[in-house]
Amino acid sequence: AIRPVLLCGGAGSRLWPLSRELYPKQYLPLCSERSMLQDTALRVEAGDRFAAPLVVCNQDHRFIVAEQLRQGGVKPAGIILEPVGRNTAAACAVAALEMAEADPDSLMLVLPADHAVTDVPAFLDAVDVARRAASVGYLVTFGVQPTGPETGYGYIRRGAALSGVPGAFRVQEFVEKPPRATAERYVAGGEHAWNSGMFLFSAGQFVAELERHAPAVLAAARRALEKGSTDLEFLRLDADAFTACPAVSIDTAVMEKTDSAAVVPGEFGWTDVGAWSALWEVGAKDKRGNVAIGDVITEDSDRCYVRSDGALTAVVGLNDAVVVVTDDAVLVSSKDKVQQVKTVVERLRRDG
Ligand code: GDD
Ligand code: MG
Repeated sequence: AIRPVLLCGGAGSRLWPLSRELYPKQYLPLCSERSMLQDTALRVEAGDRFAAPLVVCNQDHRFIVAEQLRQGGVKPAGIILEPVGRNTAAACAVAALEMAEADPDSLMLVLPADHAVTDVPAFLDAVDVARRAASVGYLVTFGVQPTGPETGYGYIRRGAALSGVPGAFRVQEFVEKPPRATAERYVAGGEHAWNSGMFLFSAGQFVAELERHAPAVLAAARRALEKGSTDLEFLRLDADAFTACPAVSIDTAVMEKTDSAAVVPGEFGWTDVGAWSALWEVGAKDKRGNVAIGDVITEDSDRCYVRSDGALTAVVGLNDAVVVVTDDAVLVSSKDKVQQVKTVVERLRRDG
């Protein structure tokens, strides 16, 4: 069976003020009554297709993770604790080393814990295709049809069909987060897909690719595991060894460089719930296109996202706005500028 590896080390700063350092978005019920981590884990419930998941998270969140999995009825194979975030190449490296030690041929499905997928059967179909490609040595990505020249995504140019694996293609080119003009060219050309950020490959194959393309990451991950310790279900990485690891994403460390990448295109209602505008997109809307969550009134307003976790919140005469009210902070933003919420968080961090 395929082992899901759930990545939940991100900060989610563009979803401030709901997403906080101590409680980032993947642990919040943003898209359903369950948290995004719970939704992700339940999407790949253990059974015939999947083994119990491995979770990689920051050590500060270990009790939130353990408790949320327990509440969701998910028994993890292990929870790997990072002393600091060293980006996704490192997180995948420690998971792959753990798995390869037991069986280098075991397949791992890397899943960010903060994505929404609305068509789960279609997603599982794509996983089945990807499994066949991964079993013959490919590092498989899942390609999504782009809807605009987003610069926050990786772009995949599809190559020849894989012989023997219908539905899978070689990756001709993988470009992580291209500049705007390049993204525009890719979208206009119609030959590129967005990288969804989910991956399927064998643990041993991924370790071999790291050896070739990112040996410093692999070495640090290995040391952090060797000098690490286990207590209960937690696997604690050695702080000094892991902190010394270069912080680089799996996309730039491996996927842009490898010759063995494949892509399975799929439409499964995928959304990277990165910013408030994405939550407006996926949210249930009233007649005027407003998403209203909590004790909220909208009057003479169109296409707004309004959410209150406490105080009664009224919005009058605003269009395309985002209003988020929490106990101790309020965000008011125009919907097309919500990416800049990150800057606010950076300022808060800097100025205290
Ligand atoms: N455990 C752990 N440790 N998880 C991490 C860390 C870390 O240091 N850093 C990030 N993550 C988790 C995040 O929580 C998220 O779930 C996932 O890994 C991806 O990281 P992001 O930082 O959100 O990546 P991105 O969105 O900029 O880009 C990736 O996803 C895009 C699609 O959403 C890339 O794969 C792009 O190519 C892709 O298009
Ligand atoms: Mg992301």
